[in-house]
Amino acid sequence: MRTSVLQGLLLAGLAPSLAGQDIAAREYSARRDSLAARIDSGVVIAFGTPDPTSIHQAAQLPAFRYLTGFLEPNAAFVLVKSGGRVTGTLFTASRDPRRALYDGFPHDSATVTRQTGLAVRSLPAFRQIVDSLVQRGLPVYDLRDFATADAGASDSLTRGAQFLADLQGRHQTAAPQIRDAHAIVDSLRARKSPAELALLRRAIDITVASLKETMRSARPGMYEYELQALVEAGFRRAGAEGPSFASIVGSGPNSTQYHYQRNDRRMAAGDIVVMDVGASYRGYAADVTRTIPVGGKFTPEQRAIYQLVRDAQAASERVAKPGVSFKAWRDTARAVEARGLAKLGLIESAEATFDPPWASQCGASPERCRQAFLYMAHGLGHGIGLEVHDPPGYGGTGTFEVGQVFTIEPGVYISTRLLDMLPDTPKNRAMIAKVRKAVERYQNIGVRIEDDYVVTRNGIEWLSRAPREINDIEALRMVSSRIR
Ligand code: GLY
Ligand code: MN
Ligand code: MN
Repeated sequence: MRTSVLQGLLLAGLAPSLAGQDIAAREYSARRDSLAARIDSGVVIAFGTPDPTSIHQAAQLPAFRYLTGFLEPNAAFVLVKSGGRVTGTLFTASRDPRRALYDGFPHDSATVTRQTGLAVRSLPAFRQIVDSLVQRGLPVYDLRDFATADAGASDSLTRGAQFLADLQGRHQTAAPQIRDAHAIVDSLRARKSPAELALLRRAIDITVASLKETMRSARPGMYEYELQALVEAGFRRAGAEGPSFASIVGSGPNSTQYHYQRNDRRMAAGDIVVMDVGASYRGYAADVTRTIPVGGKFTPEQRAIYQLVRDAQAASERVAKPGVSFKAWRDTARAVEARGLAKLGLIESAEATFDPPWASQCGASPERCRQAFLYMAHGLGHGIGLEVHDPPGYGGTGTFEVGQVFTIEPGVYISTRLLDMLPDTPKNRAMIAKVRKAVERYQNIGVRIEDDYVVTRNGIEWLSRAPREINDIEALRMVSSRIR
């Protein structure tokens, strides 16, 4: 039966609790099948976001959203694979009628089943059903409800962690094996589908348009938060939910702090300002950084650092393609940076080492003991998707594969505080004696250039096409002063 225009509108009106309008129900179902295909038998339990703890509606957690598209809080999803058969059930919370006047009326279970293709049961049945599955001896695969993967390692207090601890307590004589299923779901999430890529492109396009407009608007005397307000207004005006992470607008000394977020400094001519921002569109995160001179023209020192960072980015863009290891890609950018830093006298030589405060990490990652690392002690990039730091991790082993969407974001951050934080060792004293003058010369220059890409069959496609060459950035401002 063809749906009438009116029915279509009614269905669209039902959309708020489901992400299904952007990603087809059959794609969610294919994702669940892929997950099931990767386990022999067992019970996968995904916990959804808890009730909001403020007046803001909580965003759905990424693994849960990826498998269900269901956006209501307080739900759990259970996938059972047993004897080759796979079933999926969504457990949803009923809403207190008065609460519904604030938060909206949730869909009835028949609607949710129609839109998700999942059986729906009420949350109070969840515990008993999991108990009965565990009694059948099925292992449990968990997808806990920590807010971001970055916080996952230290999680012990989420509802998911509590539920699993109780589950083991209840089944002491035949305690279930509990395995973490995040690695499996992450491996699926690493490769974006065409529908996901379309949403990411939209998030990135919105980010670029707003960032470009904001780059034209920066003037000495403005506060960092004015740039933040401009960029975020542009996101919402274009239909994005808002920022996908706390916007970073750091000028002068603040440009040297990677995740600066206060954004409350008044900017002066002669400062550089790092703007690291991203829109969230239908749950998908963009992440783009531009660094510009507040006065419109780079000083010679800013120009030198900027070009070095841009060269590192360009070099790593050239090597990224399917089959290339993340390590080779990282090493390329770091080698270009190290040569540039040595030329400017900021390190003793491209290969020179030092005794960093994080010396214990150098066994596993020898590059962290290179002097060049001091000026960029963060990763070269990461996946983007339902999270701003999405799978796969680009800091470890692994290779580029078609369909990955990721950032390349080299930076160089100069501050005498870097020298002050070094342990007092003979090696460090020798280094400091050689580089202090240069560090003072380039003091308070922080530059990061961050772009978003998709891996294609032959290489990568640059998605975030905001101006990034020195001439183009300076021209942007000249054009805008002429038309003012
Ligand atoms: N915007 C945070 C990051 O670049 O990782
Ligand atoms: Mn990033
Ligand atoms: Mn960023």
